[in-house]
Amino acid sequence: MCGIVGYVGDDNACEIIIEGLKRLEYRGYDSSGVALFEEGRIKIYKSKGRIANLEAKIANENFNSTIGIGHTRWATHGAPSDVNAHPHGNMDESIAVVHNGIIENYVELKDSLVKDHGIIFQSETDTEVIAHLISVCYKDNLLDAVYKAVEQMRGAYAIGVISSNEPDRIIAVRKDAPLIVGLGEGCNFIASDIPAILKHVRKIYLIENNETVVLTKNDVKIYNSERKEVKHEVFNVTWDADAAEKDGYEHFMLKEIHEQPKGIFDTLNRRLSSDGTISLDGISLTKEDLQNINKVYIVACGTAYHAGLVGKYAIEKLAKVPVEVDIASEFRYRDPFVDDKTLFIAISQSGETLDTLAALREAKRKGARILSVVNVLGSSVARESDDVFYTWAGPEIAVASTKAYTTQLVCMYLIGLYMGITTGKLEQAYYDQIIKELKAIPEKLKTVLKHEDKIKELAQQHYKMEQVFFIGRGPDAGVCYEGSLKLKEISYINSFAIAAGELKHGTIALIEQDTLVVALATQDRLFEKMLSNIQEVKARGAYVIGLAKCGNTEMEKQANKVIYIPDCMDEVTPLLSVVPLQMFAYYVAKLRGCDIDKPKNLAKSVTVE
Ligand code: M6R
Repeated sequence: MCGIVGYVGDDNACEIIIEGLKRLEYRGYDSSGVALFEEGRIKIYKSKGRIANLEAKIANENFNSTIGIGHTRWATHGAPSDVNAHPHGNMDESIAVVHNGIIENYVELKDSLVKDHGIIFQSETDTEVIAHLISVCYKDNLLDAVYKAVEQMRGAYAIGVISSNEPDRIIAVRKDAPLIVGLGEGCNFIASDIPAILKHVRKIYLIENNETVVLTKNDVKIYNSERKEVKHEVFNVTWDADAAEKDGYEHFMLKEIHEQPKGIFDTLNRRLSSDGTISLDGISLTKEDLQNINKVYIVACGTAYHAGLVGKYAIEKLAKVPVEVDIASEFRYRDPFVDDKTLFIAISQSGETLDTLAALREAKRKGARILSVVNVLGSSVARESDDVFYTWAGPEIAVASTKAYTTQLVCMYLIGLYMGITTGKLEQAYYDQIIKELKAIPEKLKTVLKHEDKIKELAQQHYKMEQVFFIGRGPDAGVCYEGSLKLKEISYINSFAIAAGELKHGTIALIEQDTLVVALATQDRLFEKMLSNIQEVKARGAYVIGLAKCGNTEMEKQANKVIYIPDCMDEVTPLLSVVPLQMFAYYVAKLRGCDIDKPKNLAKSVTVE
């Protein structure tokens, strides 16, 4: 969470930093600020709310500064407010700090700074501790002081520091929070993510954990925790900043929903050759490795976790190996049974989710083989994995994940198919059938997207509802969790997903006259069971929107309204059925006047526990 940007060069630092922060607003947007070295001292400007508020605040200032740091915040310690916004300064404001992460021992550090050094704190944040700590460690060298301060800090952080005593440099440190350096001509940058600086540079250093960087306008030096200089390869960014533009759509979420046929096509295309064989280019899992595996763990958070729920069905069915799916924040603390016969699959769009990263490290420590499914090249999860199966969704900007989910599902199928066919547990004919079905998905999805108006109508009828239930069986249950999460996170409606057979064990007590129930019934062998579940909720007054495969007209007799998806094999329906649910959430949120791309209390990249 939180985005940081820093610039040192010859141009107007404030403009460059604010423009970069806007590109990082997806990481948090409850307040923002900049610190600039201006007229011989550090000036800090900050404001609660969106970056537009900060811009309004400084609109009449005339900045000439050519060095500065900026921050867009997702609050952890202290409510969103002007005073809690970053940057934070030391007492005489000779030092300013921006921070992404959490300083876990900040209470202890704060107590000692107050008691032993008479420091008066302004904010409730953990970050302010860093500024004072560097200040009390400062003798005559900022780098020395940063090293001494960092030695005392526990937690996760990417920090950027400037000081009026050494106004030609930015010092940045990374530990368990993303940090990159952009290399320009006569200028250099720090940032939490590439889009922030892509307009200015394409050459990037991906900073590793426990590394410290010193940037001046003509030089970048990277040091390890022992303060030895280290060299990094330059990472050349080949994708375009335009990929992160709205392209005429009203919201990124809608654009990203419509990009799914392409994302799925690209993800398949990277791995499938024309004869249907899957190539694991760049992935070193051998037949022997796969034969050695007796258990798969899929671990992730949020939408990525929901992709794992469907992944369990796919991999168990295709690879015939037991799969356990876990929420990363639970996995890491419960001493799971993992050993060198375990394949650990981490799924993460951003590749920076701290809980997923920590779970991955825990599994690695226990000897598991780590395969990650990640959308962002060079991200932390990707770098710490043995192998990476990239999704080719392109940059996902909206906080609500859509195209990342469907491309993650594609990877689940491809991994299952590859494991099954390589170990000889999957018959060739069945393999060929699934491959054919997968290849047909992008076109079928375009048909689903053409029925947008029908979904709009449904949203119009129901957008004032106060609660909604999603029910389904088998893989449909997994999709229900995702449909429900989409609705609650962007429309703030209380929605609940449950395996349909489980309803009668308690939750059905909540169904009353006109309660909306969305019933997914795409699985042929479970269709009749679902019809019974629909009867049960209707008998209690529910209004049912059914979702079924084209041709299952029986659904029309049972449900009040029906959404159809194109006919396909049961195995691959999640790739199609989730899309109407994403569109439903989108249009309901729009009618309720919600801030769709930046829902309240959320951030795109969750880099705190
Ligand atoms: O970047 P990740 O895939 O690791 O993110 C995991 C979750 O934070 C994310 O999927 C979240 O649930 C989405 N915003 C939901 O739409």
